[in-house]
Amino acid sequence: MKTIDMRYFAFLTDRLKGDVKDVSSAGDVEQLRVKYLGRKGLLSKASQNFKLIEEPDDRRFYGRGFSEFKKFATSVIEELQAKYQDEKRIDKVDLTLPGRRDFSGGLHPLTQVLEEIIDIFRGMGFTVETGPEAETVYYNFDALNTPHWHPARDLTDTFYLDIPGDDKLNWLLRTETSPVQIRVMERKRPPIRIIAPGRTYRKDKPDATHSPVFMQVEGLYVDKGVTFADLKGTVVAFYRALFGPETDSRFRPHFFPFTEPSAEVDVSCLFCRGEGCRVCKGSGWLEMGGSGMVDPNVLEGVGIDPEVYSGWAFGLGIERIAMLKYGIEDIRLFYENDIRFLEQFD
Ligand code: DAH
Repeated sequence: MKTIDMRYFAFLTDRLKGDVKDVSSAGDVEQLRVKYLGRKGLLSKASQNFKLIEEPDDRRFYGRGFSEFKKFATSVIEELQAKYQDEKRIDKVDLTLPGRRDFSGGLHPLTQVLEEIIDIFRGMGFTVETGPEAETVYYNFDALNTPHWHPARDLTDTFYLDIPGDDKLNWLLRTETSPVQIRVMERKRPPIRIIAPGRTYRKDKPDATHSPVFMQVEGLYVDKGVTFADLKGTVVAFYRALFGPETDSRFRPHFFPFTEPSAEVDVSCLFCRGEGCRVCKGSGWLEMGGSGMVDPNVLEGVGIDPEVYSGWAFGLGIERIAMLKYGIEDIRLFYENDIRFLEQFD
């Protein structure tokens, strides 16, 4: 018969107390549990000795030692498990994984350019006005002195709105921000000094330089004694603030129904400074937008006496400015919402 040392459990207890001192993580606790209480652990091995003890008193003694030790080991390990529980959760985090990137929102490049434009005009005493994108033919064309035969009115050029009961097609998506001029002049008396930014729509086939939705900023200044020189001074100052002090501007005669005289504004090419390059197609100038002295018919239509007051107006495209500023060669990028494009402007 094999002799069983009856001090076995006293010995195991000392050993466990010693092992506990070395525990410093949830992993250590688990190792300890396997070593003492696991299926092949020390307690399980000790239980196999029962059948080797023949004396009933010895068996009883051994049995008491067994169950006392089991209770002791279980409570010690449970206590340690509770202590290292939080850490165990952290143990599960794989610290070798790459970190997760924080995506912060950013302003759309058109919004950024628009804010800059607004800032510059605010600095010159202009306030910001807005108007509806769904407009009436009256505000978009009639009140702006646009003749009935004008091609901009064509169904092929303008998005008319199909509104039940409106067979005259009185509603459309505004083709320009100019109708805001009318809305403001109907409400306010001179002096009026406003800009009106917003979305505009035209039935254009999308390509690198055309988008059926785009943005404009309208400018309007009406008061006594306002001259073309005021227009020029303001426009020159604006483009210098936007593109740098070395920027030149020039006015080319043009036609718009709502201004007389009218002019198109060019700025000296930002890339070659007038030398001639690919962007300005060798001319040294970049076309920026339209402008002119508000037509007396327009002033009369809103009840402002053109004998007493005069004014100027301009309209410019925001995409054009953003494209030049950031070197973007395709207008469609602004409206496709490709995150790889947009995140470059965060
Ligand atoms: N509305 C014109 C366009 O979309 C731009 C424009 C030209 C606006 C002359 C004006 C202006 O206010 O005076 O082409």
